[in-house]
Amino acid sequence: MSSSPRVTKAVIPAAGLGTRFLPATKAMPKEMLPVVDKPAIQYVVAEAVNAGLTDVLMITGRSKRALEDHFDRVPALEHNLMAKGDEKKLRSIQEATELGDIHYVRQSDPKGLGHAVLCAKQHVGNQPFAVLLGDDLIDERDELLSTMIAVQERTGGSVIALMEVEPENISAYGCADVAAVNGVDFVRVNGLVEKPAVDEAPSNLAVIGRYLLHPRVFDVLEHTEPGRGNEIQLTDALQELATADGEGAGVHAVVFRGRRYDTGDKLSYLQAIITLAVEHEELGDRLKPWLSEFTASLDK
Ligand code: G1P
Repeated sequence: MSSSPRVTKAVIPAAGLGTRFLPATKAMPKEMLPVVDKPAIQYVVAEAVNAGLTDVLMITGRSKRALEDHFDRVPALEHNLMAKGDEKKLRSIQEATELGDIHYVRQSDPKGLGHAVLCAKQHVGNQPFAVLLGDDLIDERDELLSTMIAVQERTGGSVIALMEVEPENISAYGCADVAAVNGVDFVRVNGLVEKPAVDEAPSNLAVIGRYLLHPRVFDVLEHTEPGRGNEIQLTDALQELATADGEGAGVHAVVFRGRRYDTGDKLSYLQAIITLAVEHEELGDRLKPWLSEFTASLDK
């Protein structure tokens, strides 16, 4: 058992340019794109808060304003809804403002995910912390972050989340070479490579956007050279930690078998919306019959 302090901080990189969603993201951060009835980022913040991470730091870019506004109160709108007696809508806007303690830091020059994480150094300090990527939504009914926190507390190093993907899709992800550890349901990471070519991938285990990092990652990121895509890659820093010795070294992984929705490109974003809308308590019952009819009409 390691004596690592309890994890309370979550870092959410949200400085990407969202070019895959242009023109929708010309004047709006991609994190604000709605997934059914909430911006994608709200699911991610809620996931962190539900796992007990009440101190959230967002690494923002040029479009910080809309993000900050979304998680801030709008008294005029609240009064208006209150005067109308529209409790339901009132609660829906308060949901985002009651989530947690949200802080913002700006990554002025987006040099990659590793660089975004390094921007959190001062805020995070010397304790393990979570990183949640906004493109990946994890179904709230499936446990991931709290399992990763428990593994981090047990191993004392860093913890990543992996998911099996079709071998031909591995080049869209970080990929891990892992080894079983006797008697536990997590694995040890021997090596990591960012977006390998299909025939060079050490496995079909893809890194998904949840990390529990030891603060030693900051020391490594400070000297991590730009890698794939000429960006400072978090995967490269974790590769170094996986093979290092001493305090804070070592990387373990939880293999996630639950429901993950990818909102990172137009097609998977649409699929995520349809999947979640079908299960939505107000929309599902009306959407399902329509969807069946619609798909049947496509086969004709
Ligand atoms: C990032 C990481 C990659 C990981 C992926 C998960 O890539 O660099 O290792 O597999 O997130 O979504 P991105 O999708 O931002 O290019």
